[in-house]
Amino acid sequence: MAGTEISTKPFEGQKPGTSGLRKKVSVFAQPHYLENFVQSIFTAVKLPAESSLVVGGDGRYFNEPAIGTIIRMAAANGIGRVIVGQGGILSTPAASNLIRKRGANGGIILSASHNPGGPDGDFGIKFNGANGGPAAESVTDAIFAATQSISGYRIEDAPAPNLNRIGQARCGDMRVEIVDPVTDYQALMESLFDFDRIAGMIKSGFRLRFDAMHAVTGPYALAILEETLGAAPGSVINKVPLPDFGGHHPDPNPVHAKALFDLMWSCNAPDFGAASDGDGDRNIVLGQNTYIAPSDSLAMLAANAHLAPAYAGGVTGIARSMPTSCAADRVAAALGVPVFETPTGWKFFGNLLDDGRITICGEESAGTGSNHVREKDGLWAVLLWLNIVAASGKSMADIQADHWRQYGRNYYSRHDYEAVDADQANGLMDNLRARLPDLAGRRFGDYTILTADDFAYTDPVDGSVSANQGIRILFEGGPRIVVRLSGTGTEGATLRLYLERYEPDPAEHGHDPQAALAPIIHIAGEITELTARTGRARPDVIT
Ligand code: G1P
Ligand code: ZN
Repeated sequence: MAGTEISTKPFEGQKPGTSGLRKKVSVFAQPHYLENFVQSIFTAVKLPAESSLVVGGDGRYFNEPAIGTIIRMAAANGIGRVIVGQGGILSTPAASNLIRKRGANGGIILSASHNPGGPDGDFGIKFNGANGGPAAESVTDAIFAATQSISGYRIEDAPAPNLNRIGQARCGDMRVEIVDPVTDYQALMESLFDFDRIAGMIKSGFRLRFDAMHAVTGPYALAILEETLGAAPGSVINKVPLPDFGGHHPDPNPVHAKALFDLMWSCNAPDFGAASDGDGDRNIVLGQNTYIAPSDSLAMLAANAHLAPAYAGGVTGIARSMPTSCAADRVAAALGVPVFETPTGWKFFGNLLDDGRITICGEESAGTGSNHVREKDGLWAVLLWLNIVAASGKSMADIQADHWRQYGRNYYSRHDYEAVDADQANGLMDNLRARLPDLAGRRFGDYTILTADDFAYTDPVDGSVSANQGIRILFEGGPRIVVRLSGTGTEGATLRLYLERYEPDPAEHGHDPQAALAPIIHIAGEITELTARTGRARPDVIT
């Protein structure tokens, strides 16, 4: 092997969470920290000689130096070729697509998703396999084990090539191919959707606004929405990716994308509004005076996907993460296809997609996707919505209203308590877990608990079991409370409460989910003893 061996030792806390290793930049910038983790990937994954690897990230602070290090380490670890986005940029779904399209053996993706960036912000790294999807738990466990016994890493002495020049380069003996980050992704989108029809709708006066939040989707949205589909110049806003996202959280929720929400409720609202996150895998979509909640978006996309060419033959099945609302289950039942309930995190959809059991999947956290890649995909969801609007001739508001009329509405909300003291948060979970056997049958006013458990998932394809995936409390008649700790936060613990209730006739229950869910929210506080245990009276973020 080439390069130099540098000795190192295990670091505390390099256990990957929901989507890879995510820490403050200051943690990643410690001497040998990044190198340690990258070497542990190479050690654990055991790629065949002369493998090819896709490498790219969302352009946040530390992206470029990290990619330089990864390229030099790949060269020293016997990788044959690295395919990297120009300037080190690749959205997460575009990276997934490149891995698949080029038949690469895997990829290393650098992002902390929707978390803030900059010198004081967050950074992250994850390994994706040859299917283009996040590594399975068995692999991330092996990577973690390798971080615990590491004694050295290999790095090429030669510098990494200049990543700004598209074309072929080298690092030591390894080939480095620098590609335009948008081209292959755009070609994939054009193969899935009816671009002519969407362009026709835009030409006849349909207006849209896409907020790229100064994150990675700017160049993708500009090329596809403005330059190809003909949206008016300026339809894509905050389109220049910045290392610190302009000082904002690139998180498309009502708090951080407030300007977009305000616009969509103003008298100058365009017909369609959308935003994506730091690495381009999340999305939110809105219409005039209309917000489509992510769980509903999954259900509505599944119900209408046949209107887009790629899904004209229907969907084989639908999957949703356990805390995601059960709205998609009703669509699956109506379509006569199976629905799968998986733990939180996209990696759990991989086997179902690879095995052809599902076509479409999603999470309540603004993630939707399909079998076209193995990551959730923000712009894909935007384009599928646009295709559905164009083909149906209905407004976003009408699509939503018609859906609720046909299927009923799953009122749904997530309450996040951020930067909670980790001991207090763990104490709350442990206490709740210990009381689970006693909860069934308990009454709270009109509500009686039917079952309470800690979700465990058996993968139907490979039989692997993932336990302790979140506490589910199900009430008679269907209301549901889910409690889990985030696996992506970088400060203390983030406690998430998920609240849900189904109503066949939403016309009778008003529009506001917080009002419709008030009794469930109250009961959740009582059962978890949240305020007494954490000192928090109200959530930091409600979505
Ligand atoms: C969060 C979301 C989850 C998503 C993940 C990565 O994870 O809740 O749905 O897959 O980010 O985008 P959490 O912080 O809840 O572990
Ligand atoms: Zn993301």
